Amino acid sequence: MNQNDIIAAFISDIKQILAADPEQGNDLTPIAERMRKLVADPSIRNWQEEPPTGNVHSGQQSRPLYQDESGLTLMHARFGPEAMTPIHNHNSWAIIGVYRGQDLYQKWRRIDTGNEAGKAQVELIEEYVLKPGDVAIVPAPPQDIHAQQGFANEAAYELVLFGSNPAGQPRLYFDPAQETAYTAQQ
Ligand SMILES: [Fe+2]
Repeated sequence: MNQNDIIAAFISDIKQILAADPEQGNDLTPIAERMRKLVADPSIRNWQEEPPTGNVHSGQQSRPLYQDESGLTLMHARFGPEAMTPIHNHNSWAIIGVYRGQDLYQKWRRIDTGNEAGKAQVELIEEYVLKPGDVAIVPAPPQDIHAQQGFANEAAYELVLFGSNPAGQPRLYFDPAQETAYTAQQ
């Protein structure tokens, strides 16, 4: 199968999983397991196409491979090794699947009671390296806070599934030292 057919089969399975889950993404484990299968597919592992440049995060490139009116969106993304992305959210749960390179992934948590810009306290709760075939769950808002970077001087190539389309939604960028968050368009 080519990448288009493989992705169509993936989206079809994800829609079935979500339809069977009345909380719509409350338990993200089955979705993460389906992503694990997707990034293990040899056609995906050998994918040589580069996502286009132009994303706001330095060193990050991405493009949507699938999006629909429900908000479900699959992005093809590359994270360069030059710098960590800002600590940010997407106002959505997400499942990250790495298929090439390695990703230094940081999971952050908001520890004040707010969920908006302004005064904001966040703490790093986990940092680990995602290798090809690994997946990570970005939990539902307001704890969908993370940062990432290509690891070991290599870019990380990934597929990222979002429950709600992150494009056009203002995201938050967090500054832990200043204890602030500010809003930015994608
Ligand atoms: Fe992100």
